[in-house]
Amino acid sequence: MKDVALVLAAGSGTRMQSETKKQFIVLDQKPILYYSLKAFEESGVEKIVIVTSKEDIDYCRKGIVERYHFSKVTEIVEGGAQRFHSVYRGLKAVGDCDNVLIHDAARPMITTELIEDIRSALREHKAVITAVPVKDTIKSSDPDGFVTGTPDRKALWQVQTPQAFRFDLIKAAYGYVIREGMEDVTDDGMALERYTHGSERIKLLEGSYENIKVTTPEDLLIATVFLGKRDK
Ligand code: CTP
Ligand code: MG
Repeated sequence: MKDVALVLAAGSGTRMQSETKKQFIVLDQKPILYYSLKAFEESGVEKIVIVTSKEDIDYCRKGIVERYHFSKVTEIVEGGAQRFHSVYRGLKAVGDCDNVLIHDAARPMITTELIEDIRSALREHKAVITAVPVKDTIKSSDPDGFVTGTPDRKALWQVQTPQAFRFDLIKAAYGYVIREGMEDVTDDGMALERYTHGSERIKLLEGSYENIKVTTPEDLLIATVFLGKRDK
């Protein structure tokens, strides 16, 4: 099977409120995007496509890909206004392959081991997403902030990336999401759910609580601790 990684780094990091976009913030001497590229470079994926903002393409190429010798990166393409636009643009640049592993650069704790686990699961399933069981009790609410219910925690998962799919399937799903203008789609699994109305089963692969998404300033502290305890 020919597997390709699509690494998303075209966000503006509004919630981080930092001058540098979060995917380029330096943690433990390397920009956050570096860690995802390193994990994929050392995995069995055949190539890596990066999606980033137009003004950052040059920096990604010279400041990260060339500097750290990421030989599997074949394309760096321009993203769009929202995550699902960026994914769609990336998918159009991926070219011929069997499977695509979609990953947020904002999750630097991804490991090559997790990538290989998801690739193995892809032999059996057409759609596999990484997730961890929800630790907290979750409530739903009405617009006025009053509780409307408590879903069974045992059935709830917090989803992460990578999320991996048969390429043709996820490309068709995103084509549908874009055509229909489904602005509320926040992850790739959801794009597939919308497209197939649930008829294509999506396998949950248990990931790691360490695979956090760096979103708000305190996440930088947490990620620094995790990166610090890794084998160098
Ligand atoms: N992303 C992207 N294109 C966008 C929006 C997001 O490629 N138009 C990427 C981000 O770079 C990130 C991942 O999708 O790696 C997850 O998005 P998120 O954590 O929401 O990042 P941002 O959108 O950058 O942050 P915020 O929502 O706080 O603005
Ligand atoms: Mg966002």
